[in-house]
Amino acid sequence: AHQWKGVIEEYRELLDIPAGTPAVTLGEGGTPLVSSAWLSEIAGGGARVFLKVEGMNPTGSFKDRGMTTALSVAVHEGARAVVCASTGNTSASMAAYAAKARVTPIVLVPAGKISAAKMAQAVLHGAKVIMVRGNFDDCLKISRGLAEHYPVALVNSVNPHRLEGQKTASFEVVDALGDAPDYHLLPVGNAGNISAYWLGYKQYADLGRATRRPVMRAYQAEGAAPLVTGQVFPNPETKATAIRIGNPASWKLAEAAAAESGGRFASLSDDQILSAQRELASQDGVFVEPASAAGVAGFLQDISRGDSYAGATVVITVTGHGLKDTATALEGFGDLVETIVDAEVDAAAAAAGLI
Ligand code: F0G
Repeated sequence: AHQWKGVIEEYRELLDIPAGTPAVTLGEGGTPLVSSAWLSEIAGGGARVFLKVEGMNPTGSFKDRGMTTALSVAVHEGARAVVCASTGNTSASMAAYAAKARVTPIVLVPAGKISAAKMAQAVLHGAKVIMVRGNFDDCLKISRGLAEHYPVALVNSVNPHRLEGQKTASFEVVDALGDAPDYHLLPVGNAGNISAYWLGYKQYADLGRATRRPVMRAYQAEGAAPLVTGQVFPNPETKATAIRIGNPASWKLAEAAAAESGGRFASLSDDQILSAQRELASQDGVFVEPASAAGVAGFLQDISRGDSYAGATVVITVTGHGLKDTATALEGFGDLVETIVDAEVDAAAAAAGLI
């Protein structure tokens, strides 16, 4: 049987990384493209809507695709320590790959604004976790400063090797569908992922492995929507903490991806995002973290505003696992204590509504 080897060994000849770089891998990539009956029906006209379930990566988010390449190159070039700013997932991923590579991970996160699970990942993987009184954008500035003045390699997505790994998600989509989809929808925060997908789709089209490129549509939370308004958000705010970013590093690349593909950016309320998260979990059995539901919320908003996806092939990336932030997920469910019963069949049957 074929054993998936991780994105570097699966796609090495298509990645712009130094030849012969040994792969630091945890077996990332090869994530499922799951058909969504719920969303396909809403789109209508025989539409096929798929979820690219990136929570199935080793540390539970798409970040692992870029971390395998960034860490492999950094270690190959002699790095002993790596640094990143993060809203939680990048730090979890970097810490895991740094552990595997036996280099020191240093992470900067906005104090009090990352989920407990993501913090636990960074701590258990051995990161030096620095909590900054400030937001993600402040953390990124400090990370750049550290990398400039000290012997630590920066592995945020401003490091081009990150995008080389992350673009493999597009390759997998085309490999699975036989061609590029009509539309690709996803959440956007620091804007590395949309930039990487677009690189991947363009490369496959140039190589003749796809006959077309999709329209890219990307979604932000309305409290952190610089790509929608064209203005920096000095104080970004959203319950979708993963995308609580006011000044994305890959702003220009993301704008180019939207423009060249005939796509666009739109924003969503936290309620729309959290409602899409719950629907996705209950309708399709796919549990994602709040930020990860933004592509689905955007799809529903587009249709409610009169756009049509009828008959189209649509891929929506759900970027991270629901287990990343159970506290926010449960906020909409009130007091769970009410369902406590005595240890008796009848009591359980009554509570379950069976009698
Ligand atoms: N979804 C999740 C779950 C994320 O963690 C992120 C980014 C995004 C979407 C947006 O992707 O930044 O490439 O546009 N998280 C970063 C982090 C910022 O630090 O974990 P993007």
